[in-house]
Amino acid sequence: MIKPIGSDELQPRFIYDTERHHQLAHEAESLPSITISSQAAGNAVMMGAGYFSPLEGFMTVPDAVSVAETMKMTDGRFFPVPVLCLVESTDAIAGAQRIALRDPNVEGNPVLAVMDVNAIETVSDEQMALMTEKVYRTSDSEHPGVQAFHSQGRQAISGPIHVLNFSYFQNDFPDTFRTAVEIRNEIQERGWTKTVAFQTRNPMHRAHEELCKMAMDAVGGDGVVIHMLLGKLKPGDIPAPVRDAAIRKMAELYFAPNTVMITGYGFDMLYAGPREAVLHAYFRQNMGATHFIVGRDHAGVGDYYGAFDAQTVFDEEVPEGALDIEVFRADHTAYSKKLNQVVMMRDAPDHNKEDFILLSGTKVREMLGRGEAPPPEFSRPEVAQILMDYYQSIS
Ligand code: ADX
Repeated sequence: MIKPIGSDELQPRFIYDTERHHQLAHEAESLPSITISSQAAGNAVMMGAGYFSPLEGFMTVPDAVSVAETMKMTDGRFFPVPVLCLVESTDAIAGAQRIALRDPNVEGNPVLAVMDVNAIETVSDEQMALMTEKVYRTSDSEHPGVQAFHSQGRQAISGPIHVLNFSYFQNDFPDTFRTAVEIRNEIQERGWTKTVAFQTRNPMHRAHEELCKMAMDAVGGDGVVIHMLLGKLKPGDIPAPVRDAAIRKMAELYFAPNTVMITGYGFDMLYAGPREAVLHAYFRQNMGATHFIVGRDHAGVGDYYGAFDAQTVFDEEVPEGALDIEVFRADHTAYSKKLNQVVMMRDAPDHNKEDFILLSGTKVREMLGRGEAPPPEFSRPEVAQILMDYYQSIS
């Protein structure tokens, strides 16, 4: 089976030993504590679940800056994005060596993780600007990822963490939320040797469905792990329970049995395009996938990134040999009226724009809002129905 990044065994930061878990949860209640940002909570969940293995905890500022610049920490280890715990004030934990990190996304702010504090540093304006520019390729405060990054404080608490739970993801998505450990185990149990991973933050339309099938065909895959983001999105994006229902329906009706696993992970969307694509590949290798689909405008938003920047970044910025997972680079995919099927545009060089059914996300949202189904060439009717019901319920 494909090895996790940087080690032979996955190193999740969740405390699996029941007795130790019990002791730590008890100890945590009397530790100085601080409620962290949603982004930091997402990082903790990802470290707990083994997705960010072998990272032990939150990065120091020099490590975060180095990662932003070179995708390498100061000790040379590969990581695609800064993993910071940024807070407004550290008064509540002043002088403490061990602290409890409280969850901002669960009522009552229960303890999410315990941290052994290595350092508390202030991030300077220059460091903030540099990390923003490198990770998001823009400093525009309208960019939802930049906005979220800057909405946090400037005090960076770093050190190894010990994770006690998986925030709201496990309770809210019991059938879908999975750790990297669980997915790795399931791939092994199923005996898949070539596993394609598919990232999504949308309900899956025909293009998404066919991308998975095309990638499976191209690489001779045994199965596809549909791995949806369950954390926060920007306003207007479709909520996770609706996406989950739509994806399950599509897989049930349109995929061969035993070729698809429907799973999700607990992390807020960064909208960092190319950098996020590298992070996505990183944690798909950790969960045991051998191939990862990157299509058009992967993890993008607005016009911030070129349509295929999230593919070229793997040639231009990822350190040599850092990833074993292979990227399946997909071209723009759409329904061909001439061929009556979904194709990648590069495979239909004789086509004009008019030969394809191309709908923008905005146009589809407008149609759904009016109670109109997107055409069957764009969305499966059963998927369209779930989305129409949702849009009608909010209008
Ligand atoms: S993302 O933010 O998670 O990337 P989305 O769920 O829409 O958004 O896309 C999931 C994956 O499908 C990404 O790799 C994206 O590039 C790819 N994709 C979506 N639609 C198309 C399309 N029409 N053509 C090619 N690739 C696409």
